[in-house]
Amino acid sequence: MRNSPSNTLLSVPSGGLQISEFPPPQLITDKTKIYFSLIIPTYKERENIVRLVKVLSELLEEVIPDDYELIVVDDDSPDRTWEVAQSMMAEYPNLRVMRRQQERGLSSAVIRGWQVARGSVLGVIDGDLQHPPEVLAQLLRSIEQGADLAVASRHIDGGGVSRWSAVRRFLSRGAQVLGLIFLPGVLGRVSDPMSGYFMVRRRCIAGVTLNPVGYKILLEVIARGNVAEIAEVGYVFCERKQGESKVTWKQYVEYLHHLLRLRLTTTQVGQKFSFPIGRFLRFGLVGLSGVFVDMAILYLLSDPSTLALPLTRSKIIAGEIAIFNNFLWNDAWTFADVAMQQQEWHHRAKRFLKFNLVCLAGLLINVLVLNLVFNFVIPNRYIANLIAIAVATIWNFWVNLKLSWRVTDVK
Ligand code: GDD
Ligand code: MN
Repeated sequence: MRNSPSNTLLSVPSGGLQISEFPPPQLITDKTKIYFSLIIPTYKERENIVRLVKVLSELLEEVIPDDYELIVVDDDSPDRTWEVAQSMMAEYPNLRVMRRQQERGLSSAVIRGWQVARGSVLGVIDGDLQHPPEVLAQLLRSIEQGADLAVASRHIDGGGVSRWSAVRRFLSRGAQVLGLIFLPGVLGRVSDPMSGYFMVRRRCIAGVTLNPVGYKILLEVIARGNVAEIAEVGYVFCERKQGESKVTWKQYVEYLHHLLRLRLTTTQVGQKFSFPIGRFLRFGLVGLSGVFVDMAILYLLSDPSTLALPLTRSKIIAGEIAIFNNFLWNDAWTFADVAMQQQEWHHRAKRFLKFNLVCLAGLLINVLVLNLVFNFVIPNRYIANLIAIAVATIWNFWVNLKLSWRVTDVK
């Protein structure tokens, strides 16, 4: 028997945003068990939905024939996306459609979809074809191989963004760095915590109340769920061909709000967080070697008995050579395991550029903390400087670990 005999719309769950351990009883009569439920949140995606449902159905029919459902959750789009989706239900029996009129928002749409889902694996994909459907097969395979959560990532091998402006890239990265500082145990676990394309085993999020603000549902799943093993699959974020993005400055504010709320309300954030102490020690030693390089070059360039160049110019050159020295050692030693996998020169150059930028920001942090501590906390410049150096070192280590060499929780 196929799933939906009629083309009635799904009723919208109300109350808390909690996902039950077992699919909702009123639906079990349909088919006792289903493997995979994929939510497609939509708002004004009339132009995309037909093609997306077609492609997804063909693909899933091949991988897990009739063992899946597609759930479109539309927020009463003015272009009547829900109606278009509904009209496809006769042709695609595994398609179900929800039209929400009381609530709005991407994350809550996804959760409402999961609440009526029957699958033991719950997924989400954008409704605008920016997430390449082929990746689904790989994500499903990762789950089969034991992952609790499989995330499509733009930031690992095979991943990328097609034509993002420098501004959007910068904002996206800035948001990630902020999260790495506030919630290291959550954002540090994956290379692309902003991904809106992933799947998770139901049992990992069953029973917990998800309470996201804004767009970033994945953060919520990692922070509140019970996720042990994570897998990542690279994908290229395609350009939108139809319709437009709903992201505005408001999503950035909501993101900050979300980070803050997760920080204040989750306790397990600290528990899962393990600091890579060995790497940190190596990083520290390399940093120390940089001090000597810096000193030696400064001497060679600026000392009256040697080249006697102006001090500032000498220091800039000495500093950059020290950074280069540190990079080489970190690449060959501290993060050798990661660097080994990406040896091409353009990968190295990219890492070096990132390392440079992070260390430059580290220098600013160093000066800032020194001033703050000296003026407001401990009026002793050497103690203040030690604290500033410690903070900057941790910054340099952590952000380079996550962005330049990208060490995540993933196998
Ligand atoms: N139901 C519902 N309600 N759907 C929404 C809403 C809403 O309020 N807002 C957006 N959507 C749907 C869109 O119709 C689209 O299918 C999907 O959510 C993503 O929205 P976009 O506006 O296209 O977002 P984006 O392309 O800028 O960003 C996406 O990709 C990022 C990178 O992977 C989102 O998936 C982000 O969450 C993701 O981080
Ligand atoms: Mn989009």
